[in-house]
Amino acid sequence: MINLILLGLPGAGKGTASERIVDKYHLTHISTGDMFREAMANKTKVGLEAKSYIDKGNLVPDKVTAKLVEERLGQPDIKNGYILDGFPRTTVQAELLEGITKRLNKPLTNVISLEVNEKTLIKRLSARFMCKNCGATYNKISKMPKVKNTCDRCGGHEFYQREDDKPEVVKNRLKVNEKMNTPLKDFYQKKGLLTVINGEQTPEKVFEDIDTVLSNNQ
Ligand code: AP5
Ligand code: MG
Ligand code: ZN
Repeated sequence: MINLILLGLPGAGKGTASERIVDKYHLTHISTGDMFREAMANKTKVGLEAKSYIDKGNLVPDKVTAKLVEERLGQPDIKNGYILDGFPRTTVQAELLEGITKRLNKPLTNVISLEVNEKTLIKRLSARFMCKNCGATYNKISKMPKVKNTCDRCGGHEFYQREDDKPEVVKNRLKVNEKMNTPLKDFYQKKGLLTVINGEQTPEKVFEDIDTVLSNNQ
């Protein structure tokens, strides 16, 4: 069983790596960012609350986020293990997660941190765009759709830039997340769960490194 956390600053490639991990290991992908974006699109109570933080690049309060994760992790489709992408992001969330995994009896097996320098992160985020229909992620520099103006995944033709990928917001997002990053890594380092991977490599090579870690764990 693999129950994995992917750590990494905004743009480190958590979503990109998750897709490849899901393809091979059939884990359930849980991205708090994706869940919030869906809630915002549906204008739910959580979505409206989250929007006021996300659009400025700030963190949604720990308790709101942890509740969302506990509900999701408690669902029956999570039998082959899970990837948490973007949660936890603070040591308070990491401690809340300890309680959640105990209550649900779904203990963590691995924590992988994707390390990318700030200059690359800014470049990646400013070049990212998304499919309006299915949310698939593209990049003007490294990942254009295979057929011009057509989503590889759903065939959609409309794309958009995430509100929080605009340059003013990116700066704050990086600052907010950088502050929490080292304490979070220390937390899992002490538990002997952490592996650090060079996220500057190609997506293929990043996955190869992750695969080496995970295949040792099966
Ligand atoms: P979230 O959606 O999780 O955003 P994030 O953490 O800022 O991470 P990103 O999704 O921007 O980046 P990623 O690492 O997935 O990179 P990707 O694979 O897309 O969260 C959004 C917001 O929600 C937060 O700011 C916060 O407000 C709130 N939130 C979420 N979780 C929360 C929590 N736990 N607590 C409180 N608030 C929370 O890649 C980026 C780009 O680079 C893409 O274009 C991709 O194609 C490209 N790329 C990826 N890998 C490579 C590579 N190896 N080489 C070249 N290009 C690459
Ligand atoms: Mg993501
Ligand atoms: Zn699509």
